[in-house]
Amino acid sequence: MSYQAEYSKSIETPELFWGEKAQDLEWFKKPETILSKDENGIDRWFADGELNTAYLALDYHVENGRADNTAIIYDSPVTGQKRKISYLELRDEVAKFAGVLKSQGVEKGDRVVIYMPMIPEAVIAMLAVARLGAIHSVVFGGFAPHELAVRIDDAEPKVIVSASCGIEIAKVIEYKPMLDQAIEKSAHKPSACVVLQRPEAEASMIEGRDIDWQEAMKTAEPADCVPVKGTDPLYILYTSGTTGKPKGVVRDNGGHAVAMKYSMKAVYNVEPGDVFWAASDVGWVVGHSYIVYGPLLAGCTTIVYEGKPVRTPDAGAFWRVCEEYKAKVLFAAPTAFRAIKKEDPDAKLLENYDLSNLDTIFMAGERLDPPTYHWTIEKTAKPVIDHWWQTETGWAICGNMTGIETLEPKPGSATVPSAGYNVQILDSEGNELPAGEQGSIAIKLPLPPSCLPTVWGDFERFRTGYLSEYPGYYCSGDGGYKDEDGYVFIMGRTDDVINVAGHRLSTGEMEEIVADHEAVAECAVIGINDPLKGQQPVGFVLLKDGVEIEDDALEAELVGLVRKEIGAVACFKKAVVVQRLPKTRSGKILRKLMRQIADGQDYSIPSTIDDPASLPELEDVMNRNGIVTE
Ligand code: COA
Ligand code: AMP
Repeated sequence: MSYQAEYSKSIETPELFWGEKAQDLEWFKKPETILSKDENGIDRWFADGELNTAYLALDYHVENGRADNTAIIYDSPVTGQKRKISYLELRDEVAKFAGVLKSQGVEKGDRVVIYMPMIPEAVIAMLAVARLGAIHSVVFGGFAPHELAVRIDDAEPKVIVSASCGIEIAKVIEYKPMLDQAIEKSAHKPSACVVLQRPEAEASMIEGRDIDWQEAMKTAEPADCVPVKGTDPLYILYTSGTTGKPKGVVRDNGGHAVAMKYSMKAVYNVEPGDVFWAASDVGWVVGHSYIVYGPLLAGCTTIVYEGKPVRTPDAGAFWRVCEEYKAKVLFAAPTAFRAIKKEDPDAKLLENYDLSNLDTIFMAGERLDPPTYHWTIEKTAKPVIDHWWQTETGWAICGNMTGIETLEPKPGSATVPSAGYNVQILDSEGNELPAGEQGSIAIKLPLPPSCLPTVWGDFERFRTGYLSEYPGYYCSGDGGYKDEDGYVFIMGRTDDVINVAGHRLSTGEMEEIVADHEAVAECAVIGINDPLKGQQPVGFVLLKDGVEIEDDALEAELVGLVRKEIGAVACFKKAVVVQRLPKTRSGKILRKLMRQIADGQDYSIPSTIDDPASLPELEDVMNRNGIVTE
């Protein structure tokens, strides 16, 4: 089938299209209602179907001839470990760990927070929660205790699963003390914490609350799969919005399983038995979808890589893993390739490895800049596919559907909408814009399976944040345009969300932290271009009258505060003092204008500006501090 025929069918007859795709799964009870409305008037997929996602990811394969196939390859250059786990072994470990959780009272609908590094036990914990029909919420290991506490309070988990430590480049990050601090800060308290002791750091345990993973597994009774409805939640994954409070994106079981299974073939063109490597982290949506659920639902082998693209031990790490395990697909953020390019610009290390099993390299998470795109193609001689998606959707909104028909790529474009996504470019009034004109990227409802039906515990936030700006559409928060061939170009966020090394962060949240400092009267945090990480946050602060503090000392304190509250992953390293911030007469800080100045772009001075003299002054501060880039 051609891409056009597949896409048209998905848009013109969505129920027929997705009803057929749902047949590819072994439901406990097949859905009869394909698309319906819930109590909030939101489109929902497969409401009356019954399934268990962990069953489909594991037991189904064990029962259908893939018991001995490798489910997970764990490769950890930071600890020197390598391990293969078959579908049968993984199913049994998951059933046993589900038994551990069950013995702690975890039941269908209960939440379990998982705060773990990139180790197989993180995947086991996720699948064990799914096996019980409970809801997991994985928190990225790079987040600080405050961020973890906010998520604990929102998700209210019965149990938290963690590990004694994670290992970054040449340093051990102790997770357990951070977990303890988070629980101390949070109003909600879990009844138990299951902690995996790793040899690199011994966690001290709190009696009566903490349970040792290995000890508990010795006596655990395996637990069975609990059937859930298609619309029951599988997980909550928090993502940055424009305020300090992250949004709990809810993913349902049925739509997610159907979209994952479909996308593995349609988007990535893989078959059961193929080796699929998403070099991300289970703490992000890419990790949920394409380290855990997608590959396992499709009967593939997934690689759990505890390392970085560089310095573990060198910039040949990606090529080594691809060769060693015969990966057919490599999927990573453009930042990772920029990091490799920086350390090994001529890709000399690539000469040591045989990439003949690698079919395609996929990139997502941030804009794929044409130089990185061209460099990767030139050095690897592999097709490179950019695809655009969000935590909210769980799979590609736009891409090149290589399992259907590979279209001619265009550098700078995420190609065309995936099946089910009616992508439109809208002006500020909500009118659809013609080819070539830039506007807000919106998706006409209904959204396809897997997209969020609500924000956890806050439907109003979902409605106002995504659905109310353009009635009848989902507002993506990204801006861009379509060309005359219908190719979509994503140009960046239209809100205060930034993307640092493929990590989605909120400048609004950083502003709240910076503004809390006793010397600061007012501040703005913006994302500026960064050659390695794509964007980097920079703070501009106005001091309170009469405050005396050295600029360097203030900067160090603010950097420390953001690191303490959000975590090292925020990469907040620069804060400069200004005399004025450019504002409208109604007092709104002109952040977009600040970004344009920092990025060395042409800008026009808005007529609503309060004090035009603030601009040359700001430009001067930016120049003096090396903030302006071209
Ligand atoms: N646990 C604890 N700390 C973490 C962490 C984790 N899982 N991940 C990152 N950090 C810390 C790092 O140690 C670093 O701390 P430091 O400031 O004390 O050195 C900080 O957070 C910033 O990390 P990072 O942005 O990863 O920078 P880096 O210099 O260590 O590595 C890259 C740079 C480009 C190699 C790395 O960012 C990378 O691999 N990016 C790809 C991102 C990705 O896959 N994103 C997923 C979206 S698809
Ligand atoms: P996350 O929810 O963390 O996956 O981040 C989603 C955001 O990352 C999107 O809204 C985009 O701003 C950005 N993004 C992801 N993939 C791409 C891409 N291929 N091109 C441009 N931006 C992207």
